[in-house]
Amino acid sequence: MTASGMAAVSTTLLSIMSKGDHLLVQDCLYGGTHDFVTEDLEEFGISYDFIDGNDPSSWEKQIRPNTKAIYVETMTNPLLQVADHKSVVEFAKSKDLVSIIDNTFASPVNFRPIELGYDLSLHSCTKYLNGHSDIVGGAVIGRSETIRMIKHRMGHFGGSLDPHACFLLHRGMKTLALRMRQHNESALKIARFLEENASVERVNYPGLESHPQHKRARELFDGYGGMMSFELAGGQERAIRFLKSVTIPITAPSLGGVESLITMPATTAHLGMSNQDRLKLGITDGLIRFSVGIESTEDLIEDLAQALDISKIVSHTAA
Ligand SMILES: Cc1ncc(COP(=O)(O)O)c(C=O)c1O
Repeated sequence: MTASGMAAVSTTLLSIMSKGDHLLVQDCLYGGTHDFVTEDLEEFGISYDFIDGNDPSSWEKQIRPNTKAIYVETMTNPLLQVADHKSVVEFAKSKDLVSIIDNTFASPVNFRPIELGYDLSLHSCTKYLNGHSDIVGGAVIGRSETIRMIKHRMGHFGGSLDPHACFLLHRGMKTLALRMRQHNESALKIARFLEENASVERVNYPGLESHPQHKRARELFDGYGGMMSFELAGGQERAIRFLKSVTIPITAPSLGGVESLITMPATTAHLGMSNQDRLKLGITDGLIRFSVGIESTEDLIEDLAQALDISKIVSHTAA
């Protein structure tokens, strides 16, 4: 256990990688991890290259004699792309790389990367594992000798989870399976509702048949989780009005808790990225990320519907 998800990410990478090593890392990452890789790793003498998690044929040409590890996320944040995880595992084994995955978005209820063959699975326990948005914590899962090495370094870095947070996390995890069942069911219904609404231009949710990696997600996961993102006709201005009009989801950047949270990644988690890099990845200024909580699905849909209506009327008046 670590003191945060970022402690799990940074301690793992700084334990597996040494000065002179090279990392292959997925190009669409949680903003904090992206910033750590692009701003800090090189200071430790570690180089990196971004890879497209969906295009295994492109990975070979990015490998170097000093490539040590490959790092991906189960579902990318905030676009919910599902990398070709079977190929990541096979590629890592064939090239003798340590395969590392951030499994925060799926939780172990929906996906267990170690069973697929990943070497290390990381979590921000701040999210689904605790589920109540009242602690910060992280976890690293893998073979005991690797974990011992990471734990040793974690002790030196001072990233241990404090005892009270451990207690709360333990308590939160008792309802993880129940909570995930509700997140999975509710988010799928909400994603379908949004997809059918004329005001919504695009919905990114791996449980939708329209999602480009839906077939892969169906094969790999036991559920698609509570995270989705979407874009409204009317762009950023409409999105801001929409966020102001919803009454159940709270506008806040975290995710994975019992209460629904809604945010605009361009102004929160991905603020550290340049506009150009963000847009290249498909994270538009008006993209809305929605962490579906465990409230009544009907109430949430009703609330989203009224917010879609209000935001439309106001933006028409303004025009
Ligand atoms: C996928 C993912 N990994 C890691 C983190 C970092 O976790 P923490 O906030 O616990 O440091 C986050 C935070 O949002 C995340 O979404």
